[in-house]
Amino acid sequence: MALGICGTDREIMAGSYGWAPDRNDRLVLGHESLGRVLKAPDSSNFAVGDHVVGIVRRPDPVPCRACGAGEWDMCLNGRYVERGIKSLDGYGAERFLLEPDYAVRVAPHLGMLGVLLEPASVLAKAWDHIYRIGQRTRSWQPKSALVTGAGPVGLLAALMATQRGLELHVLDRAEGGPKADLTRALGGTYHPRELPKDFAADIVVECTGAPQLVIDVLCGAGGRNGIVCLTGVSSGGRLLPFDSGNFNRSMVLQNDLVFGSVNANRSHYESGARALATADPAWLAGLLTRRVPLTDWREAFERRDGDIKVVVEFEPPGS
Ligand code: BGC
Repeated sequence: MALGICGTDREIMAGSYGWAPDRNDRLVLGHESLGRVLKAPDSSNFAVGDHVVGIVRRPDPVPCRACGAGEWDMCLNGRYVERGIKSLDGYGAERFLLEPDYAVRVAPHLGMLGVLLEPASVLAKAWDHIYRIGQRTRSWQPKSALVTGAGPVGLLAALMATQRGLELHVLDRAEGGPKADLTRALGGTYHPRELPKDFAADIVVECTGAPQLVIDVLCGAGGRNGIVCLTGVSSGGRLLPFDSGNFNRSMVLQNDLVFGSVNANRSHYESGARALATADPAWLAGLLTRRVPLTDWREAFERRDGDIKVVVEFEPPGS
């Protein structure tokens, strides 16, 4: 039905990330999928017509302890593969074949919005880990969350913050427009370009990977006992001044914690699917700012003003 386009796809197109399957010099792109079941084994829980999303990662062949436990998102040896990213063709095709264990059903009322499940799964994992990590102290009761970056990942992080009853703050470089409106529609406060002086949140979810913003977040946006979760994959090579002594001092004296989070396992896709199913569909629709038919797929990779999530739409087979 549809394929979501993200920064990872653009990096693969630019040749700076991604791996073609063995003995092949081409990789079919696409890891943010949405399909309609055409055929399913009787033994599976799927029926013709179900809307499904394909899980991106597959366990490494060893498998390591994490992959062996179904936690391929935490793979220990890096030999995992990812559809559309690492050594396995992606979902950017009119038809794709999916092992039932790696298919996740999405609520049919979401229609096209089901394509948001893959990015939602990545955030569902981040939030799952934030709350597990928070349990390091019995008295932990987070009240506020800051999300940096109001792209699709940031806005889904923001949605999940409000679903957890947190006071939401979103920082983005856009002065206003749909990102600010979507933040306010969640009941959150939108901060264009900078945060108020002495701002601190109990939880920070960094969703840009922008090197300077990452430093700013590490050095100040988290409150005491704060948890900072980094989700943006940045490209290296840019050196910036960083006061590591001060960083260390405040980390230690405030019991702060910073961790990274990538990918998602089946349980995170399932919680992501619940998060989408209970969200306001009109709000989710605000994230899908551009739908491009397959024939014009190149346009989907162009960056245009006002873009949040761009999707390539597929015609039903046989039409
Ligand atoms: C995908 C993840 C993947 C990561 C690293 C992201 O764009 O959403 O599923 O693990 O890239 O390859």
